[in-house]
Amino acid sequence: MNRRKTVIGNWKMNFTHKETASFLEKFKTNDLDKNADVIFCVPFTDISAAVNALSDTNIKVGAQNLYFEEKGAYTGEVSAKMLSECGVEYVIIGHSERRSLFNETDEIINKKVKKALEYNLKPILCCGETLSQRERGIEYDFIRTQIKSALYGISKEDAKNIVIAYEPIWAIGTGNTATNEQAEEMCLTIRNCVKELYVEEFGEKIIILYGGSVNTKTASELFKMENIDGGLVGSASLKDDFSVIVNA
Ligand code: 13P
Repeated sequence: MNRRKTVIGNWKMNFTHKETASFLEKFKTNDLDKNADVIFCVPFTDISAAVNALSDTNIKVGAQNLYFEEKGAYTGEVSAKMLSECGVEYVIIGHSERRSLFNETDEIINKKVKKALEYNLKPILCCGETLSQRERGIEYDFIRTQIKSALYGISKEDAKNIVIAYEPIWAIGTGNTATNEQAEEMCLTIRNCVKELYVEEFGEKIIILYGGSVNTKTASELFKMENIDGGLVGSASLKDDFSVIVNA
């Protein structure tokens, strides 16, 4: 099965508007693998700078969150429609930092995925277990539950626009990348879960990424695994040599 390699940078709360412009103006001069989809998920305040800097490239811009309501009295929140009008094409939903620091539940995440799809934004749906869940041997059941809850009530037609990212919490920002086998096994589990929810053929097509301390040294072996279609990259996407990961 030929799935497109997809490499996404999640900048988290880093880079100002000005820093975004100068980083991306330089980044886009790299010779990038034409067979890879490259996306930068930037802070809200950096979206216009990113869209401007990348307008003459195939690199896409994503956001890191949205709110599930249409509009109204939700101080501080940003809607799917607002993002879509700004030229955003992707949006990260359900990142473990939002689940743990901002109390996002599976139910909230499901509503956000639906709202993103309504506005033709491609959700980058994140899932991942804690170290203690892995030590207790419940990681596979836990991830399957996260995936099923997030995709609840979503049609196959809509689900085609979703990218799934497996990011074990113990691997995020720790320098402890999961082994190729650990990452592959969970991505395969997720793919099988999608096949059960929809149809076999669709499960083969959906893009599934690994995230958690991906760097220039670990990327190429991870990306060679059969069920890993690329990466969701945090700190290493803030460095000039992120292109090495894209080309891995
Ligand atoms: P790091 O690559 O910094 O570990 O972050 C991973 C991540 O959370 C991407 O969404």
